[in-house]
Amino acid sequence: MSAHPFDLLTVEQLRRSGSLKWSEYRGTLGAWVAEMDFGTAPGVIVAAQETLANGLIGYAPTQLVNDMQQATAAWLDNRFEWKLEPGQVRPLNSVAVALDAAIMHFSPQHHPDAPVVLLTPAYMPFLAAASRFGRGTIQVAMLPTETGWDIDWPALKHALAGGSLLVLVNPHNPIGKVYSREELLAISELVEATGSRVFVDEIHSPLVFDGASHIPYATVSHAAAAHSITAVAATKAFNLPGLKCAQLVLTNDADRRLWAGVGDTFEHGAANVGLAATTAAYRTGTGWLDGVIAYLDESRMLLADLITEHLPHVRYRPPHGTYLAWLDVSRLSLDPSPARFFLKEAQVALINGSDCGAGAQGFVRLNFATPRPVLGGMIHRMGAAVDGCDNKDMTDPEFAQ
Ligand SMILES: Cc1ncc(COP(=O)(O)O)c(C=O)c1O
Repeated sequence: MSAHPFDLLTVEQLRRSGSLKWSEYRGTLGAWVAEMDFGTAPGVIVAAQETLANGLIGYAPTQLVNDMQQATAAWLDNRFEWKLEPGQVRPLNSVAVALDAAIMHFSPQHHPDAPVVLLTPAYMPFLAAASRFGRGTIQVAMLPTETGWDIDWPALKHALAGGSLLVLVNPHNPIGKVYSREELLAISELVEATGSRVFVDEIHSPLVFDGASHIPYATVSHAAAAHSITAVAATKAFNLPGLKCAQLVLTNDADRRLWAGVGDTFEHGAANVGLAATTAAYRTGTGWLDGVIAYLDESRMLLADLITEHLPHVRYRPPHGTYLAWLDVSRLSLDPSPARFFLKEAQVALINGSDCGAGAQGFVRLNFATPRPVLGGMIHRMGAAVDGCDNKDMTDPEFAQ
């Protein structure tokens, strides 16, 4: 059987690209920031190049925005049967900025200073978002089960009491959980009962593997549509976060009216190249994306075999969505920073679990959107580092962050 083209990419080529993942920690294998090593769909490159070649370097022309809105609405309908008017899709710079907008403008009306509730482990930058606006953060740690992760319902109920802004990331970075309809409905009932609101981050929604299916939160009930705003983007699935375009989806009239008054500066943050690239990704990128998902699907399973062979004391459950693996390395006693250990001893750059908030100590996040031979090299090196460190004192300050 001939090798997959992605398998042929070498570490040297990846380093030469100068991407953040491959340039920040020189001489290491990059498995930290959420970028893929597979480029993007061919139509995206053409669209980005044409935008510049046509001299569209001024403010966003209305046609460019309209195309993106229509393409996004059609994509969400085709992929998830989520029916929207194109005008409900609003351009933005990024999902991170969408969360800022949610904190500033979409908190419960009766409680504008409401705390922001995060289900942890969480996407790292979200942990600091609320405090930038002088708002509190409540972390609700997910509970591990035999087969995956469960919400701590009593803790969530407590966190939402009195009205809060819940951040729901689905699929859930870093644990790779794809929430079921029952779970989404149960969340929406709790939110409704407490007068809370929800910021839904569905940036990873196209990246779901066989056996799971993504359900947009706002589609599970009228109440969910009425109390949520959702951020989506082509940027994770099509690998273009540097082009700066995300979409805020408004699913009730009150939010649309509010946004009409406050949304302008946010909407100006979307870049022309990003708008055009997003349209091209949603309209022409499905074939490329399906190929990437098939590759990632095999890689997430290969990772299980690699871990069994080289890191037998590490626990890993293949994620149902995203290209992020959440590895329980607690039995290796690599505290205080397992990621620091692997960076130093294996030259593999990972995200440290504790950067993801409560309940994440003793974990690392590994990005497996890399050529499989490189993935094999990463796990091999990590295994060798663990085998070689059996006699080391891990409380040595050398290993401290
Ligand atoms: C769940 C999640 N939300 C948001 C982001 C950041 O998105 P953006 O670059 O659009 O701010 C990421 C990036 O990895 C992510 O994983």
